[in-house]
Amino acid sequence: MFTLAFESSCDDTSIAIFKDKRLITMKTASQNEIHSLYGGVVPELAARAHTQNILPLYYEVLKEANIKLSDVKLITATYAPGLIGSLLVGLEFAKALAIINNIKFKKVHHIAGHLHAAHITQKIDYPFLGVTVSGGHTTIYIVNDIDKYELIGWSLDDAVGEAYDKVAKMCDLGYPGGPIIDKIAQNYNGELIDFPRPMKYKKNFNLSYSGLKTAVSIYIKNNPNYNIEQLVSSFQVAAIDVLTHKIKLAAKYYNLKRIVISGGVSANSHLRKLLPTLFKDETVYFPEMKYCMDNAGMIGYLGILLYEKYGEDNPKTVNPKASSRLGVKLNK
Ligand code: KG4
Ligand code: ZN
Repeated sequence: MFTLAFESSCDDTSIAIFKDKRLITMKTASQNEIHSLYGGVVPELAARAHTQNILPLYYEVLKEANIKLSDVKLITATYAPGLIGSLLVGLEFAKALAIINNIKFKKVHHIAGHLHAAHITQKIDYPFLGVTVSGGHTTIYIVNDIDKYELIGWSLDDAVGEAYDKVAKMCDLGYPGGPIIDKIAQNYNGELIDFPRPMKYKKNFNLSYSGLKTAVSIYIKNNPNYNIEQLVSSFQVAAIDVLTHKIKLAAKYYNLKRIVISGGVSANSHLRKLLPTLFKDETVYFPEMKYCMDNAGMIGYLGILLYEKYGEDNPKTVNPKASSRLGVKLNK
């Protein structure tokens, strides 16, 4: 059975094809060049670029997989959360294909998709501690099943990826900032600036990144001849220190033996190296690099599981939602 999956919640247009549960083709049209002029995603431009990209991309993936639309038995698409204009393009395209061609349809929540990105290539049992760290989200969940999520921690202000992007913008490094900072920091072994670790010692699983971002901006103002390698490495060490501390705290508190990281920041080399060293009895899982950033693979994989368990959704009744909380919120 072939499944066609769509993701367009932010600035990546991504389409994937699965044969049963195996991903056979995935293509993503990035908009980094457009948004790098502004140091962040411009929603109106993102929606327009999705509109331009989606049809050629759709033909490309069908061609690469060597299948026709009539071979496709299931279509899945991200419906929430995200930029409304971006969501609309991918979701309505997917719905139209499903309705006109009488193909089964399943909607997928973007964050639930991220939380299953590592599952595309690894077998990971439930329950697990699921962490999504991206440009729009910094959230910690207990994931009990494909459709059972308990939100236990979140950033009270900026997402961690957003902090990377803003620090990169302050230093004129380009967009997205995460991979650029990651690369620069890999070459630095010198002394670090002692940036603050907001919320680190608060006895809950919440985080905050706006104070760290402000501390970096004040440092730049006071030290105009700063060393760029030292600055971004110090920012990264502070940002990842709080994150890994909270992940460890949550895993121990809830006695979860599996920790699954996802989202764009899960591609970070410092995080990928450091986190596994903090756990002895637990296993830490990261997605393959190509499934860290927004991608249709994670939407297709989870969509197939949801369809198998609950059947199809009526595409005529599925609408995009800019904000939508996943699961129930637990307050410690
Ligand atoms: O998951 P994603 O593609 O989109 C959202 O849902 O937000 O994540 C994009 C974010 C950006 O903020 C980007 O700077 C960050 O992930 N990112 C990284 C790295 N690669 C991407 N942050 C730190 N280190 C990286 N290697
Ligand atoms: Zn995302």
